[in-house]
Amino acid sequence: MTRERFNWILMGLIVGIALAMLGVTASQSADLPTGQALVDARIAQLKKAGGAMQFFGQYDGSDQTAAAAAAKILDDVAADLVSWFPEGSGPGGPGIEKTRALPAIWANFADFEAKAKAMDDAVGLMTVAAASNDVAAIKTAMGEVGKACKACHEAYRGPEEE
Ligand code: HEC
Repeated sequence: MTRERFNWILMGLIVGIALAMLGVTASQSADLPTGQALVDARIAQLKKAGGAMQFFGQYDGSDQTAAAAAAKILDDVAADLVSWFPEGSGPGGPGIEKTRALPAIWANFADFEAKAKAMDDAVGLMTVAAASNDVAAIKTAMGEVGKACKACHEAYRGPEEE
């Protein structure tokens, strides 16, 4: 192989690797929308969690499949919660018109993460309780999850728009 031919192959390899790396980062950031669409999407997620909590509030033990599905919704929301709050997705962030997320989130991000983790832990209790369809345990778990929602809202969610 000539030296020149070798150089071309090498160049092709480097370009190929660079493109592959770009592809990876592009697909990662494509997961989340940006600006107001991100805020709207995270609110939609949290509303699903609100719906699951409403379900448990009225639950009488008659539908274990639905209980397990509602616990799964809480689990999914808890697992992704922190990633729905990237830097710059608060008030005044690029493309953001309206959000109740307070700037304090990003000033105290470790605490915000701890509050999300507290929700995740409480949801763990709910997952176990729902799997055994134990209504008393479900009500106890609901109290714990509710406390975790409230603790974060009190610190990091602003008032409703008037
Ligand atoms: C770690 C913090 C945190 C936890 C835990 C949390 N939330 Fe929130 N939640 C927020 C923030 C911040 C907002 C405002 C988001 C925005 O407007 O961009 C919000 C918004 C919401 C909304 C959207 C409607 C609104 O008020 O604007 C609902 C519904 C909601 N949360 C329900 C829940 C429920 C139910 C739980 C518990 C199962 C929960 N949240 C747990 C931080 C949290």
